[in-house]
Amino acid sequence: MQTQRSSSSFLAGRVRDLAPSPTLAVSDRARQLKSEGLDVIDLGGGDPDFITPAHIRQAAADAMNAGDTHYVASSGTPAFRKAIAAKLKNENGLGYDWQREIIVTPGAKAALFQAALTLIEPGVEMLVLEPAWVSYVPMIELAGGTPVPVALDPDDNFAITRDRLEAAITPRTRAILLNSPNNPTGRVTTQAELEVIAAVAIAHDLLVFADEMYEKIVYDGHRHISLATLPGMFERTLTFNGLSKAYAMTGWRLGYVAGPAAYIEQIAKVHSHSVTCATSFAQAGGTAALTGDQAFIGDMVTAWDRRRRLVSEGLSAIKGLTCPLPEGAFYAMVDARETGLSSLDLSDRILQEVYVAVVPGVAFGAAGEGHFRLSFATDDASLTTSVERIAGLLGRR
Ligand SMILES: Cc1ncc(COP(=O)(O)O)c(C=O)c1O
Repeated sequence: MQTQRSSSSFLAGRVRDLAPSPTLAVSDRARQLKSEGLDVIDLGGGDPDFITPAHIRQAAADAMNAGDTHYVASSGTPAFRKAIAAKLKNENGLGYDWQREIIVTPGAKAALFQAALTLIEPGVEMLVLEPAWVSYVPMIELAGGTPVPVALDPDDNFAITRDRLEAAITPRTRAILLNSPNNPTGRVTTQAELEVIAAVAIAHDLLVFADEMYEKIVYDGHRHISLATLPGMFERTLTFNGLSKAYAMTGWRLGYVAGPAAYIEQIAKVHSHSVTCATSFAQAGGTAALTGDQAFIGDMVTAWDRRRRLVSEGLSAIKGLTCPLPEGAFYAMVDARETGLSSLDLSDRILQEVYVAVVPGVAFGAAGEGHFRLSFATDDASLTTSVERIAGLLGRR
């Protein structure tokens, strides 16, 4: 007699064993509580609280109305790729050939995923500097590779050191994942740290994925430097970026990867077979974003700078919490080790008891334990209320 298989036995092991995104889970839970009528403030996600500037929206609408509603070149429209190449040259000091060394993707997330599928495989290890953005480890696992965490120390300002990197390297290591400005820690990697990464990558013949998504969001004179500009690094670095954060374009899904043609041509195969191309008229908006007035970015960063201080000062006055001023991006990584609670228990209590959704630090790897992350890309009033609510829960110092 034929026995029926359980539905889970139909699932590919690489997906069955994969954890869903913890940040999306927090937002889903917050939405659910809101739908039950509770006054929840969601600081879980990473979406700028600004609408895309009008001239960018207009450019996309014009393109759509002019009939730009078809497939475009798989790697991106010539206009957008040329604008990206010019941006990388002028702002980052990186000379990429727009035709052979750049691919436009539906968000940087897709670019990172396609690059992982292209360059990582079973038996291959990739170093992930943790705490790290929640999607790196699953991407490496989906590609069949082994993510190897490199735990950075909160008591050392999450510094990247040669010892920490080299302790994790084996003959199977193929690549390192670097994200600066960093989500979730808010650190901006220094020139000296970049030199350490470059020295290690060159000594051990490794590739580096440099995720520069938050490059324009830096404070207090911190400076973003592209790793690929360091001597010997252009040929072993893939540079990832996108328009989601700096241009408040998360919903448009526009990102890109730039790197040596030998890798980009291979990633282009995965890209063409998985998504064909990024949305045609969105790319017209992207071109307008990169070539138009950049002043509004400064306005957004000024607002986030103010909110970063509000959150850091407010939370550091609460019993058990320390919130160092973030150097970049729009997240605060709050050190809650003094509370003695696990990051999951604490975030759960903050959500269930005072209705503020934050992400438990452990979602960013074991090195994030004892912390929680919140996004301050939201209005001042919500942030002030959130601080008051958390103070109500934990008490003031
Ligand atoms: C560090 C980092 N990289 C990449 C991304 C992906 O951005 P997008 O796919 O919207 O371009 C995000 C989004 O949250 C991020 O935080």
